[in-house]
Amino acid sequence: MKKSILLLVVIFFFALAPMRALDNGLAKTPPMGWNSWNKFGCNVSEKLIRGMADAMVSSGMKDAGYQYIVIDDCWQVRRDANGNIVPDPERFPSGMKALADYVHSKGLKFGFYSDAGTGTCQDRPGSRGHEFQDARQYAAWGVDYLKYDWCNHSTQNVQASYAIMRDALKASGRPIVFSMCEWGVDDPWKWAADIGNLWRTTGDITDCWNCTGVYTRGVMQIVDQEADLWSFAGPGHWNDPDMLEVGNPGLSLEESRSHFSLWAMLAAPLIAGNDLRSMPADIREILTNKEVIAVDQDALGHQGQRYRDYGDTEVWRKELTGKTEAYLLLNRSESPKEISVYVGKDKRVRDLWKHEDLGPFDDGFFRARVAPHGVVMVKVLSR
Ligand code: GLA
Repeated sequence: MKKSILLLVVIFFFALAPMRALDNGLAKTPPMGWNSWNKFGCNVSEKLIRGMADAMVSSGMKDAGYQYIVIDDCWQVRRDANGNIVPDPERFPSGMKALADYVHSKGLKFGFYSDAGTGTCQDRPGSRGHEFQDARQYAAWGVDYLKYDWCNHSTQNVQASYAIMRDALKASGRPIVFSMCEWGVDDPWKWAADIGNLWRTTGDITDCWNCTGVYTRGVMQIVDQEADLWSFAGPGHWNDPDMLEVGNPGLSLEESRSHFSLWAMLAAPLIAGNDLRSMPADIREILTNKEVIAVDQDALGHQGQRYRDYGDTEVWRKELTGKTEAYLLLNRSESPKEISVYVGKDKRVRDLWKHEDLGPFDDGFFRARVAPHGVVMVKVLSR
């Protein structure tokens, strides 16, 4: 009798095992940082990365919580005779260790990019067959974050391919956030919680409010793809609706603000993708809005949900610690709209963009006129 109970306990434990989150202790809140791809593509160099690290500090972004400076594709050119990955010697003449040391000297962390296939999406060498060698090298250079792409994977099994790099990163002995980038094609939210700290859920974002390309998506398309995945996110394992386009030319200021607010409601990684060295004050104010960032970084780790859908207008809700919540009123249309949500007669709200307290409201409804493509974002306060 006792033996059968023990057997049941063991079976139960192993049945649950794949559901457990990756236990590397990292990304307890969604990672925050900057990545080179959205703005610079393959035009990466140590000069660019150093400049971005400097700007992250001088702009106030580091103080607002941003940490990782991530070099995306194109830093690597070939493998040497021993199979070691070789950074572009012209663009990174001082070497990756020196660059990582510089980023670390600013109190920031250093991120890198590779691919689970034989080549990256820009046809630089991928990590297939070199996973442990690459992870050891990254650790020796001082890498703290790895974005791992899915181009040129041929017939590779996706789960096995990502699990092997997870194991290689663990074996390297250095804590490295593992950011999976297989674009949501194999529903990673269903199986990746014990493999990656975050996984992309969609094709590549582009700086457009509402548009679809062959591989690219606008902000609205990504939000719609991400909306139903809320139950899969949590501390250490996040849905990743891709990096921010805040401040890039295809979005208006209003749209950039909405994009940032939506990403905060979605508990998304906040990885800036603009030129931090030259951003105007109004873009800096968006990226460093500490009240909005606090919603994203809330320790409960709940991804917000679409709470009301009226077609052109929506209300989003995100539960926060302290038994409170944030609401986001979204106007997808081309004309201003009044949007309302019941918050309770005994409640006030804090407008997270105007930075002011409002209410209480006689009938318990908070109402706001919301600009086209705009949002109003509030946190509910006790009276
Ligand atoms: C893929 C990824 C992008 C970027 C590029 C680099 O498209 O989804 O985020 O990393 O590759 O080539």
